[in-house]
Amino acid sequence: MRIAVLGATGKTGRYLVSRLCQDGHAVVAVSRKLDRLEAIDTCATRRQADILQRDTITPALADAECVVSLAHAGLTEPLLAALPPQCRWVVLTGSVRRSTALPDPAADGVRRGEAAFRAWVAAGGHGVMLHPSMIFGAPDDRNVGRLLRFMRRWPRALPLLVPLPGGGRHTVQPIYFEDLVAAFAAAVTPSRALPLDIEIVGPEPMQYRDFVRATAAALGRRAWIVAVPLSFLSAAAGLAAAIGLKVPFTAAELRRGTEDKRFAVAPMQTLLGVHPRAFEAGVREKVARGWF
Ligand SMILES: NC(=O)c1ccc[n+]([C@@H]2O[C@H](COP(=O)([O-])OP(=O)(O)OC[C@H]3O[C@@H](n4cnc5c(N)ncnc54)[C@H](OP(=O)(O)O)[C@@H]3O)[C@@H](O)[C@H]2O)c1
Repeated sequence: MRIAVLGATGKTGRYLVSRLCQDGHAVVAVSRKLDRLEAIDTCATRRQADILQRDTITPALADAECVVSLAHAGLTEPLLAALPPQCRWVVLTGSVRRSTALPDPAADGVRRGEAAFRAWVAAGGHGVMLHPSMIFGAPDDRNVGRLLRFMRRWPRALPLLVPLPGGGRHTVQPIYFEDLVAAFAAAVTPSRALPLDIEIVGPEPMQYRDFVRATAAALGRRAWIVAVPLSFLSAAAGLAAAIGLKVPFTAAELRRGTEDKRFAVAPMQTLLGVHPRAFEAGVREKVARGWF
């Protein structure tokens, strides 16, 4: 099948391009930037286009039978409007962030994208929207990469004290990037049996404290969790950012960390056949590859 991949130069997209080529598809990698396209697997045809520029995106997608987008869900509406008539299937990216109860413009963008996708399906389109949780593991992943770098810099002679709001008892369910790639690769086969959306998440929710401890353990270190009020930590993170100090998490991220993220993994396993690895295994793999 001829598949156009948007977001092909991204942290996950470039691995998806290689995987789809290996699976025997004719892949067109699309990016706004030529220099970023040059780093993409040569198995793919490369085209420069911007989803927001109709005169560039329409020709870039002209021969696609399937369009996969790893660009932000906020770009869904213009993307769907640019699809060629022979495109019979789309795989779009949302985010589990759509479920947050906190004020969050990025989550609003995901919800708008989801609404545009549902309206397009109601009008006769076919496809699926995959909603990843926190993605980690790629060489340039910021989520775990910056925590690893912070821990690596911390002097070995000092105990690794990690302050977390409320002691880090809220949950998160990170997905390893290669499991996400496998989910997208499975979802490109058109299937009326798929629901409109599937959450792409780690095997089970884990507390932030265990997330931090597993990250430290992958470096051969032990982390000691210190419970600190969110208000204090947010103020400290804001102050550190204002004076140019590098801290692993921003105030907004710390606030989001006080919401429990808990999702069902069974639909991903049964519908796409992907059984995601545990966070501990993924972070060990990232460290072993030296990707931080
Ligand atoms: N990282 C996470 O933890 C996380 C969690 C949940 C959901 N997600 C979503 O999952 C997807 C993949 O994540 P990622 O971290 O791999 O993404 P990423 O590295 O940020 O890549 C996003 C890609 O979108 C492309 N893009 C942006 N604006 C575009 C436009 N106007 N026209 C064409 N392409 C455009 C960029 O390509 P060029 O700059 O080369 O054009 C870039 O390659 C994203 O949609 C993200 O929102 C991420």
